[in-house]
Amino acid sequence: MGLPQTAAGIKVTRRDAVKLAVLLAPFESGCLSGRPEMRLLPSRAPLPKPFGAPLPIPPVLQPASTDATTDYYDITTRAAPARILPGLNTTIWGYNGIFPGPTIDARRNRRVVLRLRNELPVPVVNHLHGGRTPPESDGYPTDLVLPVSGFPVGQSHDPLARIATGQREYIYPNEQRGATLWYHDHRMDFTAPQVWRGLAAFYILRDDTEQQLPLPRGDREIPLFICDRAFDTTGEFLYPSLDSSLRGKMGVTSEYMGGVMGDVILVNGAPWPQLEVANTKYRFRILNGSNARRYELALEPAPGGASFIQIGSDGGLLGAPIRHRTIRIAPAQRFDVIIDFSAYPIGSTITLLNKNDTGPVGQIMRFHVTRAERDESRIPAFLSDLQLPDRRGALVTRTFDFSYRRGMQNWTVNGKSYDHARMDARPQLDSTEIWQFRTDFSHPLHLHLVHFHVLSHNGRPGPWDAGWKDTIDLGPGQTANILVNFQGYRGRYVFHCHNLEHEDMGMMANFEVV
Ligand code: C2O
Ligand code: CU
Ligand code: CU
Repeated sequence: MGLPQTAAGIKVTRRDAVKLAVLLAPFESGCLSGRPEMRLLPSRAPLPKPFGAPLPIPPVLQPASTDATTDYYDITTRAAPARILPGLNTTIWGYNGIFPGPTIDARRNRRVVLRLRNELPVPVVNHLHGGRTPPESDGYPTDLVLPVSGFPVGQSHDPLARIATGQREYIYPNEQRGATLWYHDHRMDFTAPQVWRGLAAFYILRDDTEQQLPLPRGDREIPLFICDRAFDTTGEFLYPSLDSSLRGKMGVTSEYMGGVMGDVILVNGAPWPQLEVANTKYRFRILNGSNARRYELALEPAPGGASFIQIGSDGGLLGAPIRHRTIRIAPAQRFDVIIDFSAYPIGSTITLLNKNDTGPVGQIMRFHVTRAERDESRIPAFLSDLQLPDRRGALVTRTFDFSYRRGMQNWTVNGKSYDHARMDARPQLDSTEIWQFRTDFSHPLHLHLVHFHVLSHNGRPGPWDAGWKDTIDLGPGQTANILVNFQGYRGRYVFHCHNLEHEDMGMMANFEVV
């Protein structure tokens, strides 16, 4: 895995690496501002033929034990071989050695305790994305779980860091709406390469109100983890780390500072898979688990009516279904959608496209309608009570500018790159605030702990901003206002760009609920 460190193979420190990147970026990206653009990392292995592999479904993890209030899960992070490309071996870093990791199926108001043991050669941090989690279990980036085999600390200069050796318990109260959440690595400076190697999985939080709806369920409720990767000739993941051991200097080669995009699209870990379906409605919980790539989902051929009926977003069910012809999904976002295959004759082949691109990455997976079955499911006109907060209750407005600063040599928030010692906002517990985000470049912006409601997005909320969100995708030069209710817990959390290369390279900040 990995590319040569620099052309000359010289050793560079982290600060040097960033300086070097900044010196090179304007020349390499060829754009006036000198801002690095997202860039394709081409595979060196031959690309697999699309639609050959069946769609895998990540296994649901069984609890090690349960009691009246809690399910206890054991997960080990470790390296393991995976068969992603035909005939080649890929060493993944996975939760229990698989990629995507095992799905955790949780119930609202029933606690999950996750005992994480780290058998990788590097520290990990586990974050439940979308979870309303107490600060000590949220996976603050410096709260490292060191390898069981040991690791030289001293890397982290954060005096508040909660460092564990070998293992840690994470407590997830699940006192929140049902929703499609996910868990992934969040190690300071190394989130992008560690997620790329496989440390990501679904966490499906169910609640009773949702269970009572007549939505498709069982094997007609399918999670789709969509991401892109690149592969070396040997089949190993390719990624432009400056130090591919991930034990020394952080960062990527300068031309990839804007974000790394692979040329192989994986769904649930398989390249361009296919799924046989009945001529009925299916519910797909779609997650974009890519580091930097956005997709614009579309069906080909398109059915007569809407291709996708959206029933949920990051924070669970919408108030009412929304019909879409296409869905634009940015890194970390989730869309819960119904596709109705009764619109197609038996024998049809339908391709899930990515209209944001052409060529191989313009396709995602394929469905074959192979059989007729009864369909008792329905999409109710009323899905859930969103209980949106009243904007008149928002007494505080804060503005955050997300941009690349050449002088700062980094991706920044309000002109500053991430510093664990700097507190960027101190909202009051249970208060409502308006946060205004502005961007220079495309940035999918994410807050820990909370979900929010999009008030405006370059004018009115966009077509994909409905419901409760935890990640909003801003295009270049956009402004959005979001209404945030700081419910849950007091303590320190982060908010950041979920383009993982931007995140690792400074585009992250702190808030403390007080
Ligand atoms: Cu998906 Cu800070 O996380
Ligand atoms: Cu998160
Ligand atoms: Cu960004």
